[in-house]
Amino acid sequence: MALQNIFDNETFFEGYQQLRAREVNANNLFEIPERFKLLPDLKGARILDLGCGTGEHCREYIEMGASAVTGIDISEKMLAVAKEQNSDPKITYLKMPMEDLGKLEGEFDLAISSLVLHYIEDYKGVLKNLNRLLVPGGEFVFSQEHPLATAYSGGERWTRDGNGRKLHVNLADYSVESERDTTWFVDNVKIYHRTFSTVINDLIDAGFIIEKVVEPKPSEEILEKYPDYYDLFHKPDFLLVKARKA
Ligand SMILES: C[S@@+](CC[C@H](N)C(=O)[O-])C[C@H]1O[C@@H](n2cnc3c(N)ncnc32)[C@H](O)[C@@H]1O
Repeated sequence: MALQNIFDNETFFEGYQQLRAREVNANNLFEIPERFKLLPDLKGARILDLGCGTGEHCREYIEMGASAVTGIDISEKMLAVAKEQNSDPKITYLKMPMEDLGKLEGEFDLAISSLVLHYIEDYKGVLKNLNRLLVPGGEFVFSQEHPLATAYSGGERWTRDGNGRKLHVNLADYSVESERDTTWFVDNVKIYHRTFSTVINDLIDAGFIIEKVVEPKPSEEILEKYPDYYDLFHKPDFLLVKARKA
């Protein structure tokens, strides 16, 4: 199976870095705060970060008391930034696809993965290998693009009124689970659309107990400052799950 490594595409990488450098973005307002709320006490925890990117969260986990963090990622460019800007004696960065988790040795108390699983075709395989790497009762906290977002099938994403105001989202083929090509900085970025029930049921089948599910939406305070985020009431961008190894 040919794996995508889109973050090593120069144009994609530059576009993504610029997006993340903006103070106001959906990661900073929603995904990151909600993910950190789901984390257990990290004191002494051995953490596996799946798709760690540029490693800023690996460093934060150490600052929050984790005893060791292993960050894995498929992208050389993302890992180069991680090693330059977010290295620490307690962090190990490994260049490997998470589809190869079966080859990883070790034992982890907690696995975290932010905004990566929608790039993975073999979700079931990753969950099976991850379950083996966690201690009994070990936790898995992850975020991914929400299934209502990955269901995008081309064409106009929004229906708008005469003034361009978004009225509702256009949705097609939600129940067709498939690879979807999108354009994000470059053409032909592959994501894998799975329904909400598949995301949850595959976790259960792999031996996890679901503890919490979050679909972030803006607070009144955020809406006052950034009214465009009302979009999230029509279509959540992110899905976050906290699960525990049974
Ligand atoms: C949207 S970024 C998120 C990075 C980081 N987790 C964060 O939240 O800042 C997605 C990351 O997943 C990595 N990735 C994509 N496919 C992967 C795979 N098959 N195995 C491991 N990492 C992968 C990318 O290289 C990229 O660094």
